[in-house]
Amino acid sequence: MTHSATDAIDACPANLPGPRNPWLAYAALYRDPLGYLTRAARKHGDVVHIKIGRKSDFLLNHPDLVRAALLDHENLRRCVHRPLRRVLGKGLLTCRGERHKKQRALLQPMFTRERIVALGDVMVGEITRRTDRWREGATLDMAPEMLELAISIAGKALFDVDFSSKAAGLRDALVTVLQATRFNNLAVASKQFEKLSLPIHRRFARAAEKLETEIRAIIAERQKGASEGPDLLSIMVRLQKQSRKGLTEQKIRDQILTFLMVGHETTATALMWTWYLLSENPEVATKLYSEVDHVLGDRLPSGQDCDRLPYTRMVFAESMRLYPPVWLLTRRAVGDVKINGFVIRSGSYVHLSPFVMHRDPRYFPEPERFDPERWTPEAVAARPKFSYFPFGGGSLQCIGEGFGWMQGVLTIATLARRWQMRLVPGHRIELGPHITLRSRYGMPMKLERRR
Ligand code: HEM
Repeated sequence: MTHSATDAIDACPANLPGPRNPWLAYAALYRDPLGYLTRAARKHGDVVHIKIGRKSDFLLNHPDLVRAALLDHENLRRCVHRPLRRVLGKGLLTCRGERHKKQRALLQPMFTRERIVALGDVMVGEITRRTDRWREGATLDMAPEMLELAISIAGKALFDVDFSSKAAGLRDALVTVLQATRFNNLAVASKQFEKLSLPIHRRFARAAEKLETEIRAIIAERQKGASEGPDLLSIMVRLQKQSRKGLTEQKIRDQILTFLMVGHETTATALMWTWYLLSENPEVATKLYSEVDHVLGDRLPSGQDCDRLPYTRMVFAESMRLYPPVWLLTRRAVGDVKINGFVIRSGSYVHLSPFVMHRDPRYFPEPERFDPERWTPEAVAARPKFSYFPFGGGSLQCIGEGFGWMQGVLTIATLARRWQMRLVPGHRIELGPHITLRSRYGMPMKLERRR
């Protein structure tokens, strides 16, 4: 039975629908989080309540409820995986309240539309540099390929640092740290297991140390050398030199690591799934090539072209619908919260899943079908806003959204000018729900030059 948001308005938590056996529910959630969350939403409706003793989890599956939860950042605090929190320190993703507000105000001017358009050329430069070595007929795993590309782009565009020679090493360290964020990786997530010092803990510690060394070296170099540039690192180093905004070296380190960590994997996984979907849907690929050829002809794209490639943008939007890089947002109630009339007690967890919402047939008929036409302005206007939220919402909304769109559209357009990627026949595709939505067995694709 499906409940609407208004049904939930009159319900009290005890009456809210949810699984009869919560232990089985948690076991299923642990084994197959995406499958379980989807089934639970279809079975129980807009609110799913899982309760064991005093512990309550809520899964909200209606755009109005998602909006309400995302906008109440005072009472519903973002949860960040423990190991990730430890590595990131107190950067924008992990800090709260007044500190978050201050950091956001400091960083926001670096993400204006003009700045992002200006970064278009830097992005395209990195894309062509990295893919110049691609060869006809070669098979490449698009998962690490897109990760390394995104690390190079983040390095150059955000910090004006050339990561190209270091991208593979950095990628391994970042991947190891992010490995610990696999949804059900208790070995690293839990404090109790940590004392055992398993090989995974040692790998994690080594990777965290490598990141620390690299980031400290980058900051030290900028402090010694020229720091007049408009990039994030130079701006923070300048402010530190002027002793303004209370910026310490530790704060700069936390911010750089945060942006490097969250600024690359999300876009990289979105692009990896885009190549997969284009390989599986040749008629969409043909339409995309036609737009790219028509708009760009023989030249490379620039930041200004992003708005001239509407179909490319629709393809990227549809790809993030089916495979939202951040597939689950979790909040913890720090006081009793009333959402649309029902009370969420302090200490409860609230889960919002773009993956589940984006595949809800009420908003996306035939949800499994890859159909970029869902993103015409008319189709978008006909749907509730929070039926699609790959970048979250409210005051914790992704600060890099514009950057992510620009990078996505420009990467697709630059590569689709020259290349067609085909999934290696018979390759098994299975979802890997880490902090981002990966492909469990990678994405090996054969490169063919477009004639
Ligand atoms: C397709 C690409 C991307 C997706 C899907 C994505 C998704 C998200 C989501 C869902 C959140 C909110 C998490 C929550 O509410 O708990 C978020 C936050 C954030 N993202 Fe992104 N992101 C992307 C690209 C980027 C890029 C390129 C950057 C950096 C340039 C970035 C930096 C951040 C930061 C710093 C936050 C924390 C913002 C705050 O709390 O004020 N993201 N992202």
